[in-house]
Amino acid sequence: MTKSPVSLLLAFVLAASALPTLAQHAAAPAAGEQPAAAAPAPATPAAAAMPAKVDPNAGGTKFDAVCAACHGAGGNSGTPANPKLAQQHPEYIVKQLQEFKSGKRPSPIMQPLAAQLSDADMKNIAAYVGGQKGKAGFAKDKELVANGEKIYRGGIANRQVAACAGCHSPNGAGVPSQYPRLSGQHADYVAAQLVAFRDGGRKNSPQMNAVAAKMNDREIRAVADYIAGLR
Ligand code: HEC
Ligand code: HEC
Repeated sequence: MTKSPVSLLLAFVLAASALPTLAQHAAAPAAGEQPAAAAPAPATPAAAAMPAKVDPNAGGTKFDAVCAACHGAGGNSGTPANPKLAQQHPEYIVKQLQEFKSGKRPSPIMQPLAAQLSDADMKNIAAYVGGQKGKAGFAKDKELVANGEKIYRGGIANRQVAACAGCHSPNGAGVPSQYPRLSGQHADYVAAQLVAFRDGGRKNSPQMNAVAAKMNDREIRAVADYIAGLR
């Protein structure tokens, strides 16, 4: 007639799992935690227990083999159409590579290259280029650059264009991991990106789509020239 200890335990476990809220409440009543907040907790330590190891050396080897031809040694591209990647925040680099791969950021050049990269490749390469010192650039046109500086520091008030400095920082170093570094970037590349944000060719940032939407070509060229010389 009497149940075995094992089946009693089983009955308890089944009852407890049928009442998860009650079980959590009973488990940690003094912690003052809401059951809803406690529920996902067991998954977190397990996932964090084995993070993929980021390997900048492996990233550098891959970068030299596949990417340096266009992006330059150490990510300091000397070609105006190819962005400098040196010293860029790794999180931003990874985001771009993932979005090239998925097609969210369209590029006939970068899409097939990013498609060859695993998540680990992306993180390794990003850690490598992010750790390289960015070479300073220079502005080319005195008049343009004065207007560009005004836009960069103060925005365009009568059209509600926000100051670039507010997000990308006054010296263009950006704010990891949210806002990319801009200082010293090629003016041609910066201008092309602003046009793409404005015209919808690049739609991976609602913030930048809103900023660029109200800028004319002259303002874009001016701020791009200023950014090239920013350090
Ligand atoms: C054939 C030349 C070429 C090669 C090779 C190449 N890239 Fe690019 N890359 C470009 C161009 C051009 C762009 C700008 C794309 C655009 O117009 O949006 C770019 C953009 C990028 C960006 C975005 C930068 C930013 O500031 O938003 C990243 C990141 C990048 N490339 C990483 C890589 C990596 C990593 C490799 C090697 C696996 C690589 N590229 C190989 C030409 C190249
Ligand atoms: C509200 C914050 C914000 C403001 C203001 C802002 N930006 Fe950005 N910008 C961003 C974010 C976020 C990104 C990253 C987009 C992404 O993840 O692809 C970005 C990306 C960019 C890029 C692309 C960088 C690259 O390497 O491809 C350029 C160029 C740029 N911003 C220029 C500007 C300029 C010029 C201004 C001022 C006229 C400006 N931004 C104002 C938030 C901002």
